[in-house]
Amino acid sequence: MRLAIIGGTGLTALDDAVPAAPSRRTPFGDASALPQRSAAFGEALFLNRHGDGHALLPHEINYRANLWLLRELGAEAVVAVFAVGGIRAGLADGRFVLPRQLVDYTWGRAHTFSTSAKPLYADFTEPFTPHLREQIRAAADTAHVALAADDGVYGCTQGPRLETAAEIDRLERDGCTVVGMTAMPEAALARELQMAYAGICLVVNPAAGRGEGGITLAAMRRVVAAARPRLLRLLAALADVR
Ligand code: HPA
Repeated sequence: MRLAIIGGTGLTALDDAVPAAPSRRTPFGDASALPQRSAAFGEALFLNRHGDGHALLPHEINYRANLWLLRELGAEAVVAVFAVGGIRAGLADGRFVLPRQLVDYTWGRAHTFSTSAKPLYADFTEPFTPHLREQIRAAADTAHVALAADDGVYGCTQGPRLETAAEIDRLERDGCTVVGMTAMPEAALARELQMAYAGICLVVNPAAGRGEGGITLAAMRRVVAAARPRLLRLLAALADVR
């Protein structure tokens, strides 16, 4: 099964990747970037969802084009990397969490390939493919990368602003353990295209009201840079077990 990695703030590029497609055009518009492929990761495809120079905000990403293009290039399984805020105690900066469930708080995003002529009604009971999540867990073991949790609940907010403390309290009451802005509609579109889909969340800040002081992009980037070697080790082990 050909693997695709969708990187975000937590992973913007793979070092040895080369272009994997002549164009990023699709029937749904342009994908965020030209997909790449990497021999070091078992010829996995790589797509940077925020585009070159992090040009696209979460609500500006053309999720449909991204998933469509990866499918066109033969991807059957997608591992999505997310930078997230930690809600549940113990999910501290630099820790990895595998999400098991999600709650969608986004709005106004192009979120389906369904049409009235071709309704899809995809079963989304398990938004992250259990078998693929299990493979990531096994790869983390092999690569000696610690996971803080493998039963995360990802609350997907609209952004680009961060949440209020009261909004995070509400997400927690809803059962969310981490918060990010990009898992939806990405996960649902992958399901509509019948691709396996699972996530690796990197906690880059305490969610609003959960830490001391404010949340800054500079601090998030420091966490991402420090976690990069562990994340690449995990992805390389995953490419091996698949
Ligand atoms: N909230 C939403 N999205 C995020 C956060 C956050 O605290 N951190 C990284 N992405």
